[in-house]
Amino acid sequence: MAPVAHHLRWSLVDIPYDHIEPGRIAGSQDWFYLLAGASFVETLSDLYTRNLREYYRQNATVSAWLGEEWELEELQHGRALREYVLRVWPEFRWDEAYARFVEAYAPLCRCDLLGPTPALEMASRCVVETGTSSFYTMIQHASPEPVLSQLAARIRSDEVHHYKYFLRFFREYQKKERVSRWKVLRELWRRVSEADQEDSYLAVKCAYETSNPGQEFGSGDFSHLRKRMSGWVRKHYPFEMAVKMLLKPVALPPLLNRLMLPLLTRGARLVVAGGQD
Ligand SMILES: [Fe+2]
Ligand SMILES: [Fe+2]
Repeated sequence: MAPVAHHLRWSLVDIPYDHIEPGRIAGSQDWFYLLAGASFVETLSDLYTRNLREYYRQNATVSAWLGEEWELEELQHGRALREYVLRVWPEFRWDEAYARFVEAYAPLCRCDLLGPTPALEMASRCVVETGTSSFYTMIQHASPEPVLSQLAARIRSDEVHHYKYFLRFFREYQKKERVSRWKVLRELWRRVSEADQEDSYLAVKCAYETSNPGQEFGSGDFSHLRKRMSGWVRKHYPFEMAVKMLLKPVALPPLLNRLMLPLLTRGARLVVAGGQD
């Protein structure tokens, strides 16, 4: 296991915020909600880390990495996105909207329900990091504004790095636990099907309702937002990369893996974007 790095690989000063071209993106409410929502979810990482560190407290390497690298990087993602959002939409009351999000989400946060075994929880973390890696890859390519692409590329590389750590931890636990491929698959499926989670919906809802006092944002509005985005999701979501990352913990025999990949990639395209090409 590589030693835990105690410093961040980039910081906000590496992002050329002064070169943002707001005219390219400021007019799009969809981008605003997407990025504000992402900044909230990232900023809430302290809550997730606390629970996860508690769960893995027996494992000094995992616990140290979570506290000294993972949490710091996730929190930095939140700060960097917050800064971007406020540069482009300076009138947005970020702190107020975030407080609203914490209030709405904290009671629903099921992040203390970890497990059912250390290996399977690591497999779940791989799913989460696959989701964030793919999300920021998509943002990087779909962004109409160059500084946002740069920021998304930085965040994306952290997320891939997190995935690799969780995968390594998963493999170490798996040597001891020897969970069956079927159980790993079931756990992955459970997490993938939860991907449409409460947190992103609530994050967008709180951003919307803070910006539009007196107006309510419902699940129908969220579906409309997703429908409007589906064109560029279809175009820019890295489906094959996501499926490859998801399949790694299952460790299928190479031939089966090669056979499954195109099929699952097509399936993922249908599930995520609701259509083919
Ligand atoms: Fe992140
Ligand atoms: Fe991450």
